[in-house]
Amino acid sequence: MRFVIIGIQLFTSFLLFQCLISEYRKEDFQLPLKYFVNKNGYPLEEYSMVTDDGYILTTHRVPHGKNSTKANPRPILINHGMGGGSENFFALGPKESLAYLLADIGYDVWMMNARGSFYSRKHVTLDPDKDVDFWKFSFHEIGTLDTAANIDFILNKTGKEDVFYIGHSQGSTAYFVLTAMRPEYNKRIKMHVSFGPPVFIHLNPNDIQHFLSLNEGGIKRIFEIMNHYEMTSPKVQSWVKRYCVMPLFAKACGVFMSFVAGGTPNGTFREEMLPWFLRTSPVGTSLYGVGHYLQEDRSGLFRQFDFGPKENLKRYNATLPPEYNLNYSTAPAYLIYSENDWFASKRSVDYLTKKLPNVVDKYKIPKKVFNHLDYLTAPDVRQLVYEPTIQFLKEYFNIT
Ligand SMILES: *[C@@H]1O[C@H](CO)[C@@H](O)[C@H](O)[C@H]1NC(C)=O
Ligand SMILES: *[C@@H]1O[C@H](CO)[C@@H](O)[C@H](O)[C@H]1NC(C)=O
Ligand SMILES: *[C@@H]1O[C@H](CO)[C@@H](O)[C@H](O)[C@H]1NC(C)=O
Ligand SMILES: *[C@@H]1O[C@H](CO)[C@@H](O)[C@H](O)[C@H]1NC(C)=O
Ligand SMILES: *[C@@H]1O[C@H](CO)[C@@H](O)[C@H](O)[C@H]1NC(C)=O
Repeated sequence: MRFVIIGIQLFTSFLLFQCLISEYRKEDFQLPLKYFVNKNGYPLEEYSMVTDDGYILTTHRVPHGKNSTKANPRPILINHGMGGGSENFFALGPKESLAYLLADIGYDVWMMNARGSFYSRKHVTLDPDKDVDFWKFSFHEIGTLDTAANIDFILNKTGKEDVFYIGHSQGSTAYFVLTAMRPEYNKRIKMHVSFGPPVFIHLNPNDIQHFLSLNEGGIKRIFEIMNHYEMTSPKVQSWVKRYCVMPLFAKACGVFMSFVAGGTPNGTFREEMLPWFLRTSPVGTSLYGVGHYLQEDRSGLFRQFDFGPKENLKRYNATLPPEYNLNYSTAPAYLIYSENDWFASKRSVDYLTKKLPNVVDKYKIPKKVFNHLDYLTAPDVRQLVYEPTIQFLKEYFNIT
């Protein structure tokens, strides 16, 4: 009998607990982005565009700040990291989020969503849930096609000649691919600000990354046998969302996220950031996307996707994939990195600097535990990264 009563008590508290969570979820998970942005006093626009290979992408825009409709705003395109999306740049609320900060000082802020991610899981003919071909892409296509489509769209819409560009993680890798493969895009970029560029990742002190890259072939085969090329899907996201918001798991989820997305577990990710992130992340990581990075790690080269000798010969007229020629990436670059970021370590960024023709400056974040995810979530990221970025652009371009 006692056990029955305890059972009932446990069950009712579980139900009550679920109710509390559902309340929390409704607000945080179901309302559209526009609701939050408008509530904070900013305008939000949403655009849709189709890439040359048929992916339908959504892009968000905060055209101006709270008080103004600035006469001559400066367009800036922000490109997110793997598994992320445009919402990453709203996560810190009205006073700290990069989107709002830039809008308030006169930028016309555009945030893209790469193919496969939450808002861009669409194609004119392919069904992401049924056609595995939808998922055969990496940062190569995100750079040469998605980023290019966004830049063209913005220039068309605003009538400007060029855009500022901020790339976080994969958003920065994609940029280097674009400017190396399609050098005509350099003149459409005023400045590339890179938040933790993972390019020469073999120089990272990341044993797990190296372990995975050594076993890349086997991992790929497992997924190929399962015929599954989408690694973080809305299904994964909804599952993670369900459990991670529970107080019981939140702490562990925070540590896990900091580790998987941040490279090291000792970043400053806080559990209270989880609900916002789990609205749209992690979605859109493809097997090819991860595989491409692992290939770079193993070869020590920044080069195109390795399909194996036979297919390479067909595609590249060579058995090995060609390198991206960074000599073509001539638009000015400002590289930001940190000591504790094991996806874009100091050594790898130093090496990248040597390879690039036009690095105007570099900035090492003066904080010991700042990791790869902290660019989006650190409590002091505004002072550590966003303000120095804004200040740098202001001085470099004499912006008043
Ligand atoms: C907007 O205007 C209000 C009232 O004039 C002012 O207090 C606030 O600081 C302004 N906000 C921004 C971001 O400029
Ligand atoms: C923008 O795109 C529209 C529609 O494709 C086109 O008609 C127009 O000429 C373009 N404008 C510019 C400035 O490129
Ligand atoms: C393919 O590569 C070979 C050897 O490098 C070269 O002779 C040939 O012209 C190339 N063919 C094409 C179509 O580029
Ligand atoms: C890039 O430029 C450097 C310096 O001019 C040169 O040594 C190197 O061979 C070039 N790399 C490629 C792939 O063209
Ligand atoms: C952060 O974690 C990494 C990996 O565990 C470790 O090597 C590094 O020393 C840590 N940094 C600090 C400041 O604790």
